[in-house]
Amino acid sequence: MQVVETVKEVRKAVAEARAGGEWIGCVPTMGALHAGHMSLVEDCSERTDFVVVTIFVNPTQFGPNEDLSKYPRPLEDDLEKCREAGVDLVYTPEVPAMYPEGFETYVKLEHLPKRLEGEHRPTHFRGVTTIVTKLFNIVQPDVACFGQKDYQQQTLIRRMVRDLDMPIEIVVCPTVREADGLALSSRNIYLSDDERRSALSLYASLQLAQDRIKAGDTDLTGIRQAMLDLMASHSHVTPDYATIADVDSLESLDSPVPRMVALVAATVGQTRLIDNLVIDIHSRRRTHGA
Ligand code: PAF
Repeated sequence: MQVVETVKEVRKAVAEARAGGEWIGCVPTMGALHAGHMSLVEDCSERTDFVVVTIFVNPTQFGPNEDLSKYPRPLEDDLEKCREAGVDLVYTPEVPAMYPEGFETYVKLEHLPKRLEGEHRPTHFRGVTTIVTKLFNIVQPDVACFGQKDYQQQTLIRRMVRDLDMPIEIVVCPTVREADGLALSSRNIYLSDDERRSALSLYASLQLAQDRIKAGDTDLTGIRQAMLDLMASHSHVTPDYATIADVDSLESLDSPVPRMVALVAATVGQTRLIDNLVIDIHSRRRTHGA
């Protein structure tokens, strides 16, 4: 496995792989790799011949009061996991290389970033779409894999790729959960045992929405309130939002449609967590991983 820090090295390795007829896959990450990331790597490896994992804690997607400086950076562990997973190349750029002095070009969507997470984190998605565009320009993958866990993020990235005609297939992989339902997140390490127990209320509120909708309840306003109440009834949990929205526009729905997405965000202790569940009204099965 090659571990490189410069654009030139990435381009050279990718060009060689492509010259050998290989199909290039990319998994952009901020490191602190867990089983959720590794499921993206696995999926990417099945679809492509040469897998590039990028590890870069991107400062422009953190707000002024967010956890940039304490964000976990266990690089050696991450590299070991990539090696074990058969990754071909890990790209770990430094901040000045990604954002040189005088940097002033951002990629920004008009409407999608303003909803949900964007209300709480106004500059977050501008940072995400800018760095993902840069990584796409550097790696030039045929396929890139993202997790459904960050539902709004993958929606924006798919929209950006479509709108800007980027020749990249975006694959969205199911959320990986602990046995008790907690969605894997690099931020889970901040949770105390007690907070972790309370954090289960995010997934419980999504299941509540799914169960009530599948049972024929059409009162989405009432369901949203019940989701917020359920989360708030747990110690350490301050709910931010609970919504049931259109799967593409993320606009809040007035009444159920065949396929919709329930999304929640809450602060648990000091840690902000998000989760979501796609609800397919005609599927009898209770979705777990999606
Ligand atoms: O999902 C993440 O880890 C990040 O937002 C991403 C896509 C790697 C961009 O920094």
